[in-house]
Amino acid sequence: RKPQQIAIDGPAASGKTSVGKLLAKKLDYLFFDTGVMYRLATYVALQKLGSVEDEDQVTRITKEMDIALRVNPENDETEVLLCGEPVNESIRSSQVDKNVSIVASYPGVRQTLTEQQRKIGLLGNVVMVGRDIGTVVMPDAALKIYLLASPEKRAERRYQENLRKGIPSDFHEILMDIMKRDEIDSTRVLAPLKAAEDAILIDTDYINQEQVVERILSIIEQPE
Ligand code: C5P
Repeated sequence: RKPQQIAIDGPAASGKTSVGKLLAKKLDYLFFDTGVMYRLATYVALQKLGSVEDEDQVTRITKEMDIALRVNPENDETEVLLCGEPVNESIRSSQVDKNVSIVASYPGVRQTLTEQQRKIGLLGNVVMVGRDIGTVVMPDAALKIYLLASPEKRAERRYQENLRKGIPSDFHEILMDIMKRDEIDSTRVLAPLKAAEDAILIDTDYINQEQVVERILSIIEQPE
């Protein structure tokens, strides 16, 4: 019997999204990237307030955010809608990168988004990716994966991805941002980035995303 809920956690740019999407496709599951929610809250807060320093205001904005999910019939991918409109690449800007971990450290923000994520988890047949999925959002998930990779490898992959997408970027800046985010994410008090005790660790330094997915599929197919 296939696990109904699959949690994938790991540090910034560890390949969670690519691996999660591919895995969900193979299993015909819903894919949900929780990082999108924290990025959206950050994006909206920056637009409305110009900065993310005011915890109360940022929390209020997060609570009032109108987000919905839908499956795009054209490519079968799960899309997040903000006020009915599909979210675009603006949530991946370096300005959002630089501020998102601060927003994600606010307890009120986490509480609001965690509740919404749990509801999605309860739908079942879901691959959910983030930082605290196996530890906090879906602690009962039948399969938990934690992806590891060195900061340099992760920065290199993100840099190549940006090149492909035509987004101007600087390797060193990406590396610094990734290390900074990892530090804030893993040292915050509430739901820090860490592997659940029952998570399976996969080091992706020397294997590509297809190989990671193959490995996860072989774990799923193992007789108990
Ligand atoms: O996964 P991604 O890099 O898009 O996540 C952006 C940020 O959102 C992370 O650096 C982290 O601060 C926050 N996040 C989180 N908990 C999650 C997912 C993301 O705190 N479950």
